[in-house]
Amino acid sequence: MHEAAARNVTQMLGRNPAMPLSKNEHLLRWVEKMAELAKPAAIHWVDGSQEENEALRRQMVASGTLSKLDEKLWPGCYYARSDADDVARVENRTFICSLSKDSAGPTNNWENPYEMRKKLKSLFNGAMRGRTMYVLGYSMGPFGSPMSQIGVQLTDSPYVVVNMRIMARIGLPVFQQIDTGIPRVVPCMHSVGAPLAPGQKDVTWPCNKEKYIVHFPETREIWSYGSGYGGNALLGKKCFGLRIASNIARDEGWMAEHMLILGVENPAGEKTYVAAAFPSACGKTNFAMLIPPRGFEGWKVWTVGDDIAWIRPDERGLLRAINPEAGFFGVAPGTSEKTNRNAMATLAKNSIFTNVALTPDGGVWWEGMTDTPPAECLDWKGQKWTPEIAKETGAKASHPNARFTAPASQCPTIDPAWEDPSGVPISAIIFGGRRATTMPLVFQAFNWSSGVYIGATMGSETTAAAAGAVGEVRRDPMAMLPFCGYHMGDYFRHWIKMQRSLTLTPRIFHVNWFRKDADGKFMWPGFSENMRVLKWIVDRTKGRALARETPIGWMPRYEDMEWKGMDLSKEKFEELQKFDREAWRKEVIEHEELFIRLHDHLPKEMVYERELLICRL
Ligand code: GTP
Ligand code: SPV
Ligand code: MN
Repeated sequence: MHEAAARNVTQMLGRNPAMPLSKNEHLLRWVEKMAELAKPAAIHWVDGSQEENEALRRQMVASGTLSKLDEKLWPGCYYARSDADDVARVENRTFICSLSKDSAGPTNNWENPYEMRKKLKSLFNGAMRGRTMYVLGYSMGPFGSPMSQIGVQLTDSPYVVVNMRIMARIGLPVFQQIDTGIPRVVPCMHSVGAPLAPGQKDVTWPCNKEKYIVHFPETREIWSYGSGYGGNALLGKKCFGLRIASNIARDEGWMAEHMLILGVENPAGEKTYVAAAFPSACGKTNFAMLIPPRGFEGWKVWTVGDDIAWIRPDERGLLRAINPEAGFFGVAPGTSEKTNRNAMATLAKNSIFTNVALTPDGGVWWEGMTDTPPAECLDWKGQKWTPEIAKETGAKASHPNARFTAPASQCPTIDPAWEDPSGVPISAIIFGGRRATTMPLVFQAFNWSSGVYIGATMGSETTAAAAGAVGEVRRDPMAMLPFCGYHMGDYFRHWIKMQRSLTLTPRIFHVNWFRKDADGKFMWPGFSENMRVLKWIVDRTKGRALARETPIGWMPRYEDMEWKGMDLSKEKFEELQKFDREAWRKEVIEHEELFIRLHDHLPKEMVYERELLICRL
């Protein structure tokens, strides 16, 4: 079955995919060594062409991993259903294997790198038997940008290949760059961990109960075993784009952050770029694609990126950011024409949907997509779902972490400068968590170090983006708790130090779209209306908006915000902005709990900022 499929791919390609696409000795030797270890049935060098993409998707449709959606409704779109136990990032199976345990810090899982290498060698031994090993070269960042980085992922998952083709720049041009001798290539070894015995029938979503997402920061290596889903398997994203990149960035004086990047254009045509760090499933994609509400005619929000920002001071001392990705791996549930028309337009074609529901007409659906659910569909597990069944059993048609993979170039608001090799200038940095209580809608830090403190002590409720409990408040510094590839205390120090290379530091803000009232309802409508907060932020960076000083920072008064087109009373606004001294005293105790864990690596600024905050409280 599998060999026949491989033959078909070769036929469609009109080339022998086993022929290396690079002449780089290091790369060739590594591929050979890894193949000796994992023992795949075949090797396929990925050229990234449309024909190859077509062949791989056809092969996966034949094997049942993908189904093709109705071409009229969803042109160029495919559907996948994962294994029910492989639906999100696995933080407790994610390791930073630095030489010393101290370098990984208390917020990361650490294993002795020698022991881990031994373990990985045995796990990967024969792990790809009966499968094809794809050699997937990819660039994080536009080709030719001095801020871009290159990785090569070896993977036995064709699903990963077709997703990475959307999420990153892949294929021939990458190998050509490697052959001209670029200084660093990050090797990424990935297997779903499900070898096939001769004649064994494959499952539609191969994976392994045992999962290992491993990073070796000193040698800049990634090894991922057992999962085919999202950040566990698309190794350019969180593994390279954040965990390895944060290590490189610290050494080279730049920043790799879990941030969206957007540009705000006012009616006069003035453009201001901001970056915002919100934890997983806390609103980055939606904010990055914001559609200005009523009352903001003539305003425009442009999208540069929705998940990762690589930020570097330029020669004038201004921070400039690139989006290292080429696509969006976005949360499907809650995405609709009402909440995010831009995302709906982006994912309308050439996209891959994973773990949403399949409708009888060959379309997809997810909770929140339309007001009226389909009368019947197949849920993310492939079982019959109806609104009646849902009412009775509470069953969801799509998994809460169901996602779309869509090309960024298809976003109607994609910024004309989104692939600018020198990046876009950043005027403000926004931190934001998902907090039912305590945190006001918006406030501004007094300065860089108080802003770093606000980011460092950020709390947020856990979400379905990671396996485990949902809705528990935890400290998630700069939204990087699961993504910082070294000691969190050193990471704070790096943030503090960045100020020295800047002539103009971005202003720093904190937002919370998720405050709830006594009935448990969101107090703020969010989405488009977040524009009102964004406008105040932009105006503050330009010195145009007023604010009042409070113990936690600068806050807009009712009259400092634009309310045209929205009916929100002053009382409601004050409720949203309420600063509760008692709740904040408790909050600061949680800051201290984090700081105690980081103690000997914590920069002094964080201790002083905390003392000052306590004094003001
Ligand atoms: P990752 O891709 O996991 O990093 O997530 P993200 O930060 O990009 O989050 P995303 O924009 O996909 O939003 C996650 C969830 O939050 C979705 O269900 C959204 O509908 C919801 N959401 C986003 N913005 C808002 C908002 O302003 N208000 C409310 N109430 N919900 C929001
Ligand atoms: C996140 O969890 O923050 C994501 C999704 O963006 S994943 O790619 O799975 O990490
Ligand atoms: Mn994310």
